[in-house]
Amino acid sequence: METLAGTSLTALHIDAFKKIVGEKFVFLDEESLNHYSHDETEDLHFLPEVVIKPKTAEEISAILTICNKARIPVTPRGAGTGLSGGALPHLGGVLLSTERMNNILEIDERNLQVTTEPGVITEVLQNAVKEKKLFYPPDPSSRGSCFIGGNISENSGGPKAVKYGVVKDYVLNLEMVLPTGEIIWTGANVLKNATGYNLTQLIVGSEGTLGVVTKIVLRLIPLPKHDLLMLVPFNAAENACAAVSAIFRAGYTPSAMEFMERDALEWVGRFLDNSSVKIGEDVQAHLLIEVDGNYMEVLMQEIEGIAAIVQEFDCGEILFADDTQQKAELWKMRRRVAEAVKSHSIYKEEDTVVPRAELPVLLKGVKAIGRKYGFHSVCYGHAGDGNLHVNIIKDNLTDEEWNGSLKEGIKEIFLLVKELGGTLSGEHGIGLVQKEYMNIIFDATQLRLMKEIKKIFDPNNILNAGKIFDA
Ligand code: LAC
Ligand code: ZN
Repeated sequence: METLAGTSLTALHIDAFKKIVGEKFVFLDEESLNHYSHDETEDLHFLPEVVIKPKTAEEISAILTICNKARIPVTPRGAGTGLSGGALPHLGGVLLSTERMNNILEIDERNLQVTTEPGVITEVLQNAVKEKKLFYPPDPSSRGSCFIGGNISENSGGPKAVKYGVVKDYVLNLEMVLPTGEIIWTGANVLKNATGYNLTQLIVGSEGTLGVVTKIVLRLIPLPKHDLLMLVPFNAAENACAAVSAIFRAGYTPSAMEFMERDALEWVGRFLDNSSVKIGEDVQAHLLIEVDGNYMEVLMQEIEGIAAIVQEFDCGEILFADDTQQKAELWKMRRRVAEAVKSHSIYKEEDTVVPRAELPVLLKGVKAIGRKYGFHSVCYGHAGDGNLHVNIIKDNLTDEEWNGSLKEGIKEIFLLVKELGGTLSGEHGIGLVQKEYMNIIFDATQLRLMKEIKKIFDPNNILNAGKIFDA
């Protein structure tokens, strides 16, 4: 039997897949294979051998049963907006797209819950519950295109996480297909659950290595009625970082507390052809700060209180967004920084996270490491969570430097992160591109536990193998 591109996949398997999902949802053409060969991670491409678009858990179960028996690698994929290579089919084999599983199944207004399929775009879900005056807060910058299923896999965060928490704080129960084909629910649709091991939370953030999530039950909260937004410039980036923890210590919990270095805001302004924010000559960084709630008087007091604190850190003139349009514009700029950086240069992104008060030391350390290894970095991110996206820009580095000594520099960044009590990733995951750094954070015993868990779920190592760690 003819074997395709190096794995055990044969034409017989393709026929079987066609019987399961229907001929028109099995793709072998070059254009489809190319389209699914990359996500948003750097400039990486790996061709799958076949792309399958199932519609139900039962279809996925039948596909995985075949792949498990024949040891065919399977890469599950949401919208492909990931930044750590979780959806890259680096071993070829089957690329399993959840894009046809795109129904919101039920909004339970009595219990403030929503049940959804994984292929629903996060913002579509947010808007659907918003119509019922309900709120699903986790809002990665890619929320207009990413899928809720991918958010579960990565335990995504976004700007609102600082007040409302990340995906894990909203997931109550998951239906999933195991790599061996069984279909299970991981928990119950309840707000409290002290019943055995927490399989639900084990799956959240497991990057598609333990099973394919097919239904998701999320808790919702009432939608806050108002918000206020301000953009604060600083002449010293470290002052911006230092102001962050002072604001929380003073008793405020902003609904967003975003940090952007000068380059980040300048590049996104150019990228969007938007010159509405004038950046003063000496300005090095900005904080974008939002408060939300139900009572405007309270929000006014909070924003004034926060404004007084940032002034103690030598900020420049604060821009208070005065209408919905200006708020939308500022948020658009913030959300599109990643794309702006990508369009500027080849880059590598490190998703560092440290305890919030260590942020100034982290930023200073990243810049010092950059000087030592000769790289320029653009830093931005969720300062309120101590989560700094360090974008290392290729610019004039040679390929040898880029693929060689830079690794040592990145290692040094992670060693610093560890020393500060932080870890490798706050919200982008480990996937393919960060796994080589896992042993900086975890010792052999910790890694063994993770690998044993993987083995229990996926004894033949077919599902997203080689992601997070090599089993
Ligand atoms: C952001 C994404 C890249 O914060 O996490 O924009
Ligand atoms: Zn982010």
